[in-house]
Amino acid sequence: MNEKRSTFGSKLGMVAAAAGSAVGLGNIWRFPSETADGGGAIFIIVYIACILFFGIPLMVAEFLIGRSSRANAAGAFHKLAPNTPWKWVGRLGVLTGFVILGFYMVVCGWTVDYFIQSVTGSLKEVSDFSANFNTLLANRPKQVGLMAFFVLLTAYFIFSGVQKGIERSAKIMMPVLFLLLIVLVVRALSLEGARGGIDFLFKPDFQEVKSTVFLDAMGQAFFSLSLGMGCMMTYASYFKDNTNLTKTAVQVSLLDSTVALLAGMVIFPSAFALTTNPDTIVSELVAGGPGLLFITVPGLFNQMEGSMIWSAMFFLLLAIAALTSTISLMEVVTIYIQEEHKVSRKKGLFFVLIGVLLLGTLSALSPQSFNILDMASAKIMLPVGGLFISLFAGWYLDKKIVQVELTNDGKIKFGISFLKTYSFILKFLAPVAILLIFLYGLIG
Ligand code: PHE
Repeated sequence: MNEKRSTFGSKLGMVAAAAGSAVGLGNIWRFPSETADGGGAIFIIVYIACILFFGIPLMVAEFLIGRSSRANAAGAFHKLAPNTPWKWVGRLGVLTGFVILGFYMVVCGWTVDYFIQSVTGSLKEVSDFSANFNTLLANRPKQVGLMAFFVLLTAYFIFSGVQKGIERSAKIMMPVLFLLLIVLVVRALSLEGARGGIDFLFKPDFQEVKSTVFLDAMGQAFFSLSLGMGCMMTYASYFKDNTNLTKTAVQVSLLDSTVALLAGMVIFPSAFALTTNPDTIVSELVAGGPGLLFITVPGLFNQMEGSMIWSAMFFLLLAIAALTSTISLMEVVTIYIQEEHKVSRKKGLFFVLIGVLLLGTLSALSPQSFNILDMASAKIMLPVGGLFISLFAGWYLDKKIVQVELTNDGKIKFGISFLKTYSFILKFLAPVAILLIFLYGLIG
């Protein structure tokens, strides 16, 4: 490879891109249904603990592996640990990215459809939202078409490159997303009866703890922070030498959790305020499952004044969040093929397109495949990837490299005091916790 490797152009652009990867359907579609299922506030407490105790350290680990190697996810392990089986961790990551794309793109397609339904006003006419969603699910060709549209849209940004495609789009889309979200939160909180939703989110009921809450929350943390598959690693390979890795990981995690909580503060208060039967609201939300956002939420909006505007805004928000994430997922796979198989970006992208379209079609056609891809990636592949990444950064990686990366070669003083805690977490805490939670979740 003689071509100079790309980097992000500005600090703001870099944080926007990494936060854009993290903030996605995971925050707005997956988080509310997992929260409802996990008993509300209890789930959120465990989720935040997961982010603090191993999410952030693991993100730093991915950052330093990526920046010190300046290579794709598999190439990074290749460079830092030549001729060892560690490269399989990178390869597993690329595979995971592919698996996630397979079901994620289908949901992106639903989002586009609901945005169109909102803008054209047809969503306003709906009386049975469950039937409305099922009509979309039953229309297989339409789902495949919508999915393919989103795949091509994503590919356009990948094709435009790191600065012109990934960075520029994130710099525009992320602020828009925040703005839309804030407007929606204000609207939801001003509904009468919104209080119930806020209590559900923030007042824990310890009687309701489910045995799988730890695995669910950990899987959600990995998924939402884009960890455990080399995505943050790949983006960090485009970071500049003077980027403060610890600070960036904290910023990205903070932005991501904020968006998840804000999304919760749109959905739960509206649900509690607008429900006709407060006694069954929680079980209704749980039953909503992945359909929560496409059945319950439009139903709620429809009871509000100006429902068209609110739902159009909401589904636009969802599509934007999803797009910056699909871009990051597709970049991981594309740069892997490009660098490891030494082909041009265009050619690499072409192979990725074919693969994603095939897998996306499979999960659009079969709900079972869809569920398997969702569960396997979040609850198995990402935690396993995260486990090995933390073992690699904690035990294998040369201490010198870790120190240089964390302190930017001695320039960041805080980096040194962080070093000890960091290596304790990556050596012991994170691997043991991930393993225990994983086994417990599988048995329980
Ligand atoms: N973090 C993204 C979301 O929450 C999904 C994702 C996972 C993106 C893994 C990249 C890598 O939607």
